Amino acid sequence: MSVEPVLDRIDSTLSDSLDRLKAFLRIPSISTDPAFSTDCELAADWLVSDLRSMGIEAEKRPTPGHPMVVGHIDGPGPHLLFYGHYDVQPVDPLDLWDNDPFDPQVEDTPKGQVLRGRGAADDKGQLMTFVEACRAWIAEHGSLPCKITFFFEGEEESGSPSLVPFLRENADELKADVALICDTGLFDSRVPAITTMLRGMLQEEITITGPSRDLHSGMYGGAAINPIRVLSRIIAKLHDDTGRITIPAFYDGVPDIPEDILNQWDALEFDHSTFLGDVGLSELAGEAGRSALEMLWSRPTCEVNGIGGGYQGEGFKTVLPSKASAKISFRLVGQQDPLAIRENFRQMVTELVPDDCDVAFKGHGASQASVMSIDNPAFEKARVALTEEWPDEAAFIGSGGSIPVAGYFQTMLGTESMLIGFGKDDDQIHSPNEKYDVESFHKGTRSWARILAALSSN
Ligand code: BES
Ligand code: ZN
Repeated sequence: MSVEPVLDRIDSTLSDSLDRLKAFLRIPSISTDPAFSTDCELAADWLVSDLRSMGIEAEKRPTPGHPMVVGHIDGPGPHLLFYGHYDVQPVDPLDLWDNDPFDPQVEDTPKGQVLRGRGAADDKGQLMTFVEACRAWIAEHGSLPCKITFFFEGEEESGSPSLVPFLRENADELKADVALICDTGLFDSRVPAITTMLRGMLQEEITITGPSRDLHSGMYGGAAINPIRVLSRIIAKLHDDTGRITIPAFYDGVPDIPEDILNQWDALEFDHSTFLGDVGLSELAGEAGRSALEMLWSRPTCEVNGIGGGYQGEGFKTVLPSKASAKISFRLVGQQDPLAIRENFRQMVTELVPDDCDVAFKGHGASQASVMSIDNPAFEKARVALTEEWPDEAAFIGSGGSIPVAGYFQTMLGTESMLIGFGKDDDQIHSPNEKYDVESFHKGTRSWARILAALSSN
């Protein structure tokens, strides 16, 4: 079965493919907010009927949270497990969007056409690159060159609470020769990439409570303790002046990156001035003496993602708040153990809280970093296929983001993942005005068509 007519069909049906993606993007499947539960169901239903329209046996599988979608289609080649997520991030602050986040439109920009809307790049547009490639194969040849299991999750953006139990219960059905995950990016707009290292993640929420109610800051200020000051002091102590994280034993399990890998990263000639310049910055703010790619791909972090307490409305209100809280997340690498770090973090914070205050912790996600073993010949076949589609040779890269499912596929199914995606740094994922380049969608779909052909060859 030749790939050329499949590629031609992808080109000639691009506008139908974009229309389908727009319909999918109109469903506001925000997983973290219960107000959108029905929309998550609708997005899962949409996927089931889209897969069925291609002759794929697909169904919605309930979980205690949002449903999974599982589909199967037989084929001659290796058995592939394709994963994507149909849920999206919340849209706030809504006033920073130029258009309705759930009314996607194609826009002309100086850098080319983009499709703008929540989920365009993370992950509905990426997920559909694979589905559209399969559609074109089936339309052209009546079948696929590989056996494929589709597996779509609706809770990725809210910590995947149902994922591990679902994998445990359905391991035999989902096991495959290799998993394909389309939720990462290009290295830059010309260089396609297979991501082989992902950072892990630990999420902790802390709330400090001081006085039993908000107090007048003139009547009590100076005499009563202020939980915002307590919290700020704790946050300030989490890093030293060189940017190192001060939690006891935090760096246990952080490996030194071998010289040859560091050389490979240097050869990518990553320009951190442009990377930072694009977001209005100029200086690296991580650990002293490390390159930008080392900071992003191979070093752990501790970041405050949100902070609250006291009066935040219009004007001024002179209060000492009763409570202050922060959401703190850690990106983890190597063998760092998220549960040990959680314990040490909580102990350190507890010791810093004065007697007159209480601290409460709420743990969210906890997942280890993962490194893919690229010995499987599928990696080289996919790299060659990507290189045929894009102007520059494909690279093996790391990623600063976290995709815990890749680690679970390894440990629970024994299936290695190839992380291939077509996102760009300026896609504004998780931010207002998210977009996906039409070129990413089009060449991404063509890339998958080529990868399916390559994986099915001997
Ligand atoms: N698609 C992203 C992960 C990603 C971002 C990969 C950028 C490569 C480049 C994914 O949907 C995501 O945002 N994951 C969360 C996971 C977390 C909630 C456990 C993340 O990385 O913050
Ligand atoms: Zn994603």
